[in-house]
Amino acid sequence: MEINKINPIGIGTYKLDLEDKEKTLKALLHSFEKGQNFMSTSLIYDNCNVVNFLNDFFKEVNKDNIFLACHLEPYIEKREDVEKQLDEYLKRMNIDYVDALQVHTSYASKIPLLETYEEMDKLVKKGKVKYLSASNTSLETLKELQKKFKLFSYEGVYNLECKYYENVGLIDFCKENDIKFVCYQALRRNNIAKMNYPFLLQMATKYDKTQNQILLNWMIKEKGLNTIIKTNTIQNIDSNLESLSFSLDSRDIEILNKFQDERFNNIEIDWKNEGGITIDKLASQFIIN
Ligand SMILES: NC(=O)c1ccc[n+]([C@@H]2O[C@H](COP(=O)([O-])OP(=O)(O)OC[C@H]3O[C@@H](n4cnc5c(N)ncnc54)[C@H](OP(=O)(O)O)[C@@H]3O)[C@@H](O)[C@H]2O)c1
Repeated sequence: MEINKINPIGIGTYKLDLEDKEKTLKALLHSFEKGQNFMSTSLIYDNCNVVNFLNDFFKEVNKDNIFLACHLEPYIEKREDVEKQLDEYLKRMNIDYVDALQVHTSYASKIPLLETYEEMDKLVKKGKVKYLSASNTSLETLKELQKKFKLFSYEGVYNLECKYYENVGLIDFCKENDIKFVCYQALRRNNIAKMNYPFLLQMATKYDKTQNQILLNWMIKEKGLNTIIKTNTIQNIDSNLESLSFSLDSRDIEILNKFQDERFNNIEIDWKNEGGITIDKLASQFIIN
């Protein structure tokens, strides 16, 4: 998979509907046929069942046509656990390599994180992994990793309301170091649209687009970020992919750039997983039913 051909709207796999596997497989194949060629997954999603299900997807789609990012999960207790976990991915999906390997959150590694990355680097040399990536680290940790390893991408939370990584300078650090920032929960599971912010509703009317299309357009075209979005729904897949077909004017871009949600800014991140809100849980706060 040529990295310059990666679609900025990637496929998220957390909470894929496995009750109706046929429908979900159809939706994933539709995403792929429409040009979505970046996918992120994890063994912890539905207790390995998502990864098991992706075996069906890779029976239909040649792995070489998808950029696949996989996560190392809690806990890496010794160096050998790194290759063991990777081999689980390869075996369960019946594939020979993954494109990006990243530690899901720093605390997943009980040995020093740099040692885990040393083991990951050995897998690159063995050809089982193409690139080393990172996810859910602090800026300081990312800087330490980048000093020793060339990172390809960074999977982190970013959306209109959760601008933590932009506010602390991590997104700028990624840009300066040619690390692709891949936003998860870009739509905050439709919760941003549910807020019905007047400025977003006005933009939706002005451009004749949905609020989510405005958000994706801004993040991808204006901010230069990549995204991964989970959707089982063909209509939402198409709608998300259509979000790049227009241009926001500079005044609207400024409104979106300047917006800050103090509810999220006031949360102190628990980097050690000591009972507080860890960074991967940030966007799951203040959910509207
Ligand atoms: N590294 C990490 O720690 C981490 C953490 C969280 C997530 N992730 C990754 O990021 C992916 C995306 O995050 P997420 O799934 O939590 O959140 P998300 O992509 O913001 O939202 C997914 C939800 O929004 C709905 N949706 C998608 N497009 C829509 C649209 N155009 N209009 C209305 N609703 C829409 C989907 O429902 P339908 O299925 O019905 O369309 C789904 O319920 C995950 O699947 C996972 O792969 C990684």
